[in-house]
Amino acid sequence: MAASSHASKLSDGELDSKSWPQTSGPYETSARLLPFVTKTVWEEFTPLAKSTGAVNLGQGFPDWAAPDFVKEAMVNAVTIRNDNQYTRSAGHPSLVQKLARLYSGWLGRAVDWESEVTVTVGATEALFALTQSLLGAEDEAVILEPSFDIYAAQITMAGAASVRVPLRLVEGAGPGGAAGWKLDPAELEAALTPKSRLLILNTPHNPTGKVFTREELESIARIVRAHPRLVVLCDEVYEHLTYDGAEHVRLASLPGMWDRCVTVSSSGKTFSVTGWKVGWVVGPRPLVRSVMTANAWVQFSVPTPTQSAIAEALAKADSPYQGFPSFYHFLRAQYRGKRDRLVRALRRAGMRPIVPSAGFFIMAQTAGSTVPDKYMAQSTPSCPKMTRDWALARHLTIDHGVACIPPSAFYCAENKPLASSLLRFAFCKTDSELAKAAVRLAAIGGAEAVSEAEAEAAALVAEGAAGAVASTGAALGDASFGAVHLAAALGVGVAAGAMLALSLARRT
Ligand SMILES: Cc1ncc(COP(=O)(O)O)c(C=O)c1O
Repeated sequence: MAASSHASKLSDGELDSKSWPQTSGPYETSARLLPFVTKTVWEEFTPLAKSTGAVNLGQGFPDWAAPDFVKEAMVNAVTIRNDNQYTRSAGHPSLVQKLARLYSGWLGRAVDWESEVTVTVGATEALFALTQSLLGAEDEAVILEPSFDIYAAQITMAGAASVRVPLRLVEGAGPGGAAGWKLDPAELEAALTPKSRLLILNTPHNPTGKVFTREELESIARIVRAHPRLVVLCDEVYEHLTYDGAEHVRLASLPGMWDRCVTVSSSGKTFSVTGWKVGWVVGPRPLVRSVMTANAWVQFSVPTPTQSAIAEALAKADSPYQGFPSFYHFLRAQYRGKRDRLVRALRRAGMRPIVPSAGFFIMAQTAGSTVPDKYMAQSTPSCPKMTRDWALARHLTIDHGVACIPPSAFYCAENKPLASSLLRFAFCKTDSELAKAAVRLAAIGGAEAVSEAEAEAAALVAEGAAGAVASTGAALGDASFGAVHLAAALGVGVAAGAMLALSLARRT
């Protein structure tokens, strides 16, 4: 009876193929997904940047071409090596063997490629496999806030509870900048219970750009030793992007910590190929075995060509590159220059950037910035209860043409107020995009700031560093920086071309 009335209901044309989520009928969404129905910060700010023509300093992916040796490695993988079929589920041999050699050196122990390394679909899927294989309904996982938003979602999906411990910005202590973000060991200790199973430690840290010092890691290690059930998931995807001599120390290399850590990393940030999604897990056999087991039933194997290409890229990355002793040296110098330019731009706009020691994000303090009332009065699908940082990020995107991310997205509801005077800006963008953003941000600081920003961008062009910038801009369909190229070609002169381009970069 019930079955036939249900059938007639569907044939009555009541099947709703538009709304989501649905809680009954053939389109019913699993309860497991219901905590995720609110739109994400990315779903709001990426389209908003596009629709308003804003320079997108929101999402963290490099907007330039991958290095030639990395692209060639992919061509070699699919042509010369013919690595086009399924590979070993736990990772393509050339990649896991290379990773085992690298980590053996970094961790000061022999890492076995067959049992202590496995490849994943980016670091993201490594996190998924680890949370699925380590956490149960009774477990708790500790996250240090602000944090990469995927951690909490994956802990929830695994059915466990997230416990948050905020990093506190202590100004005037130590060297300043991102080092001022401090973890209070007593707060961490207080958050741990017999249910604590996982601590997620992200160093270098997104979004603050903090690199945990050896001393800080030693105090974390002491706490871990006192909690026998606790495993530390060390997310080190920004391992090669460190500046000003900041040393990336791996928690797993500290005495007794190998047995208690799983280290996760990825090739996406290092080689500017975030779309290739080649990540990995390194750690003690039983923990890595759990990831291998989960993955054999999830994706079975990670695409072979990308693994083969990353193995080749890793083998070449230590060789001299573009006048630098290695690709890693080049990478750090390139990013440090971009960081410094964006730091100056944010200062000219009246913000106080907390200079990052690593990664490609800057957190800026915005207490002196004005948030128009109309934005505070709005609500959006991703932020139904408007916060100051969210409103300011919308104002900058819509009215000043520079998109950024409100960091309250990286805090739980209770801790969101900690982000009210902060914004996150990405500097993994071409020099043309950064210069355009700098000119637009300078408008907030007034005429003097604008002429400073324009002079800096013009100097960059004149230095020749922006010869590449101009053509990159043109290739990206960036009309303003294409104009630099055109003006130079017409004999208008590089500096005049730069000024023409910059006036086009300004928004009225
Ligand atoms: C801290 C952190 N972990 C992991 C990831 C994801 O890495 P992948 O792109 O390799 O999945 C990101 C990407 O932004 C990140 O910032």
